[in-house]
Amino acid sequence: MTTRRMGIEDLDGSVWKSRRVFVRVDFNVPLGPDGVGDDTRIRAALPTIRYLAERSAKVILASHLGRPKGKTAPEYSLAPVARRLEELVGTPVAFAPDCVGPAAEEAASRLEDGQVLLLENLRFYPGEEKGDDAFARSLATLAEAYVNDAFGAAHRAHASTTVVAKYLSPAVAGLLMLAELEALGRLLRDPPRPFVAVLGGAKVSDKLGVIGRLMGLVDTLALGGGMANTFLLARGHSLGESLVEPDLAGEARRLEAQATAMGKRLLLPEDVVVAESATAGAARRVVAPPEVPGGWRAVDIGPASAARYSEEIRQAGSVFWNGPVGVFEIEPFMAGTRELAKAVAECRGFTVVGGGDSAAALTQLGLEQEVSHLSTGGGASLEFIEGKALPGVECLDVKKESR
Ligand code: 3PG
Repeated sequence: MTTRRMGIEDLDGSVWKSRRVFVRVDFNVPLGPDGVGDDTRIRAALPTIRYLAERSAKVILASHLGRPKGKTAPEYSLAPVARRLEELVGTPVAFAPDCVGPAAEEAASRLEDGQVLLLENLRFYPGEEKGDDAFARSLATLAEAYVNDAFGAAHRAHASTTVVAKYLSPAVAGLLMLAELEALGRLLRDPPRPFVAVLGGAKVSDKLGVIGRLMGLVDTLALGGGMANTFLLARGHSLGESLVEPDLAGEARRLEAQATAMGKRLLLPEDVVVAESATAGAARRVVAPPEVPGGWRAVDIGPASAARYSEEIRQAGSVFWNGPVGVFEIEPFMAGTRELAKAVAECRGFTVVGGGDSAAALTQLGLEQEVSHLSTGGGASLEFIEGKALPGVECLDVKKESR
């Protein structure tokens, strides 16, 4: 049983008045030539930003963007994010060209009640990812309280997601963090039945832990994408040039046996779309059963599998979906992922979609409002489901239960 953490709403609203609050957000968003591409993560942080600003806090937002490896890199600047945030909140958002040191300190000290400041990318400093104590203390000097709303980065034990909380009080969860923990927590605690999970994505090695854990929770686990290939290989299918991890075939067999022993249904694609290369113009066809000819590769689940998985999803009491089931960035290979996205949207049960790519697929289809919860966390949601403690949550003040 996980310990409950304090959230911003657990404190009297007056606590925030005139206080400089360091709010860790996850604004790790895709940037294009015209600025922010997908602003889902920025929108998701708005309730917390507004909550604090309306209570006259001085809101200091901090985030990472990309993986600049501890060095300043203009292409990873958060300046375009500040501009997008300003449009979304509808009031000016100040931008500090640094996240620590004189420029950040001056910008923070200039804030008036209810104003918002975004600091430059935390990962321009190596101390961020190292969880360096001195770097965390420099961040802490900017503020008087800590709010972690960066669910997407909560599985990282970095200076701003974890260590800084030692130096600021209160240290509490933001509204997005709480909503994420609540929605994903429900899947672990009391998911309406039947519970169907669909896992896709490229590699099975990334998801072994979560497959094992999900097996104990779900009624049906359907696999697609590159990760299903290793399971197909383990069943003796030929995979041609498809992405496979042959050294994990034994593990795949073990998981299948575990599913059978537990009375769970583990579904694998009964047909796949194969292509001569993973490019839009490549020759392609459907093969059933999934025997991939030499020189060809599996790029999507086939129509029969998409129909079968969709049927399971539509009839589910709860659904957890993480990862596309094909190379969905390439239009001709996105049909399977599109079908599943539609089925999740149509399901009347409790539906949770996690992971950047599956979320992007839903957003592309305009279906993001049609699910019970669209998680902003990819790795974080998987680690949570896997039962791992999230450092970005563990560092927060404990909520005392009133009984
Ligand atoms: C994510 O996009 O999953 C989070 O922002 C974490 O980013 P990271 O994998 O670079 O730590």
